Amino acid sequence: MTHQGKKIVVTGGATIIGAAVARSFIDGGAQVAIWDIDARGGAAAAARLGPAASFAPVDITRDDDVMAAAGDFAGADGCIDVLVNLACSYLDDGLATSRADWLSALNVNLVSAARAADLLLPFLAARPGGSIINFTSISAKVAQPGRWVYPASKAAMVQLTRSMAMDLAPQGIRVNSVSPGWTWSSVMDTMTGGDRAKTDGIAAPLHLTGRTADPAEVAAVVSFLASPAASCVTGADVAADGGYSAMGPERTDQLMAQLAR
Ligand SMILES: NC(=O)c1ccc[n+]([C@@H]2O[C@H](COP(=O)([O-])OP(=O)(O)OC[C@H]3O[C@@H](n4cnc5c(N)ncnc54)[C@H](O)[C@@H]3O)[C@@H](O)[C@H]2O)c1
Repeated sequence: MTHQGKKIVVTGGATIIGAAVARSFIDGGAQVAIWDIDARGGAAAAARLGPAASFAPVDITRDDDVMAAAGDFAGADGCIDVLVNLACSYLDDGLATSRADWLSALNVNLVSAARAADLLLPFLAARPGGSIINFTSISAKVAQPGRWVYPASKAAMVQLTRSMAMDLAPQGIRVNSVSPGWTWSSVMDTMTGGDRAKTDGIAAPLHLTGRTADPAEVAAVVSFLASPAASCVTGADVAADGGYSAMGPERTDQLMAQLAR
């Protein structure tokens, strides 16, 4: 997908999925700014991505951080073409989640995406082709044991995407979301000690593809949504989930056949 000459911000770009998104844009000819609270991880990711990548230490819950980084990245021409709201918090203790933790996680996962859209609007509207991609999740549409905050934040993000798409359309800005299924990530890497085969084995029955997605596969969907090829797509939530959301509780079991046994 070509993104020649575009300036693209990826929040949360310090880890595996965010870096893959940045890579897909850079391969298309873009300059990418990684904004992350993880200064060491973000700087390392940008160094691996090469000269088309830059890193700014940004806490997305702080408007002044976002404004300063946006001004620096936009530079003299005052343009940022694409904002990818990917940073997230997995802070979630289900029923027992404290008010402070609820507000903290929603601040990262939801409120900061809305604030970033507002703060970056002059830059995104500065030239044609502006676009925002919000990261949602399969968790937006199903209940998961012991998780209340993260799924609620992602479900709200699906709706926020529609609201953003409606109100930013007059400025020519398209807004879409991508909902990954299980995708090889830093959390999985850490929890399994890098055992991708084990992760795939647990993911297999949940996905028609029988495995976790590769971060590059999710990044390809993000890249498409941000590209001119998706010029008539706005307000959409696109599943990049290996068929997770296509399956119901029966999964692929032939339960009717069991009635005849
Ligand atoms: N991993 C999966 O299987 C999966 C599935 C569905 C959706 N997703 C979504 O994909 C995205 C990436 O997920 P991941 O598993 O790679 O997450 P991750 O935790 O590895 O990365 C999230 C990044 O956000 C950054 N971040 C957190 N708070 C921040 C703040 N206040 N300011 C700036 N940066 C901040 C973190 O430092 C980190 O680099 C998320 O939006 C997640 O909801 C992931």
